[in-house]
Amino acid sequence: MSISKNILITGSSGGIGAKIAEKLSSSGHNVFLTGRNEERLLKLAVEIKAKGFLAGCLIEEDFPEKLLNKASKNLGHIDVLINNAGAYLWSPVEKTSKDNVKKSLSLNLRVPYELCTLVVPDMKKNKWGRIINIGSISGAVGEANASLYSAGKAGLIGLTKSLALELAEYGITVNVINPGWVKTGLTDDCIESGNIEEQEQLDMIPQKRWIEPQEIADLAKYLISDSAQGITGQSLNLCAGLSLG
Ligand SMILES: NC(=O)c1ccc[n+]([C@@H]2O[C@H](COP(=O)([O-])OP(=O)(O)OC[C@H]3O[C@@H](n4cnc5c(N)ncnc54)[C@H](OP(=O)(O)O)[C@@H]3O)[C@@H](O)[C@H]2O)c1
Repeated sequence: MSISKNILITGSSGGIGAKIAEKLSSSGHNVFLTGRNEERLLKLAVEIKAKGFLAGCLIEEDFPEKLLNKASKNLGHIDVLINNAGAYLWSPVEKTSKDNVKKSLSLNLRVPYELCTLVVPDMKKNKWGRIINIGSISGAVGEANASLYSAGKAGLIGLTKSLALELAEYGITVNVINPGWVKTGLTDDCIESGNIEEQEQLDMIPQKRWIEPQEIADLAKYLISDSAQGITGQSLNLCAGLSLG
């Protein structure tokens, strides 16, 4: 297996996904980007010399398959899938609409599962693969008024453990990184909408700081390295101590 890997990163038009893409591309890997904002994807693809991108909404029925076809065409095959796209939803349980239930679980759980079904055949054939799911500390410990988001992210932990068991003999590892609060568009939106209060959140974090997207990118880089072959099925909390209560 060559040192340079072919990597598909969802939600890479901004935030954590863009930072992971930048880090992995500058480390000599071939990255393929996707998100909804075509302008930002194009700009980033040029900046980091990505191997291409496809803009579209992941919860649209046929988009995951289209994405896999284009990414596989550009990259040859996919060695690494990083299921990073996701959306936070602040919503007290009795106020959550049926439409939100469908959309949130689709983006945060159904799509990552579907992308796994599409990449695993080649990984099995090549006897090497890495799947990294980006979960959330909300899925690891629970979060009031975000039960739907938390349920989707907790589902990623079950998916990670089960797939890790199923795929271990093929040289494929599967792990989930659970970030605490990271200062990205997602967090800015929560603060601006008044659903979370910035200082209150910081006070609750033992290290009294936001996680930097770079810290998640560094962990992803390590998890795809051969040194991390023995790490599989793990739910890794990268949260400045938030999971400790
Ligand atoms: N920020 C945090 O504090 C935090 C904490 C824990 C976990 N996480 C998780 O980390 C991941 C990345 O979050 P982030 O903070 O980087 O958020 P972000 O800045 O809002 O970026 C989200 C990314 O996902 C893409 N995306 C969202 N909905 C999509 C859809 N329907 N179809 C296709 N792409 C879609 C966005 O694309 P466009 O912008 O182009 O639409 C963007 O590239 C998410 O899974 C999130 O749940 C974040």
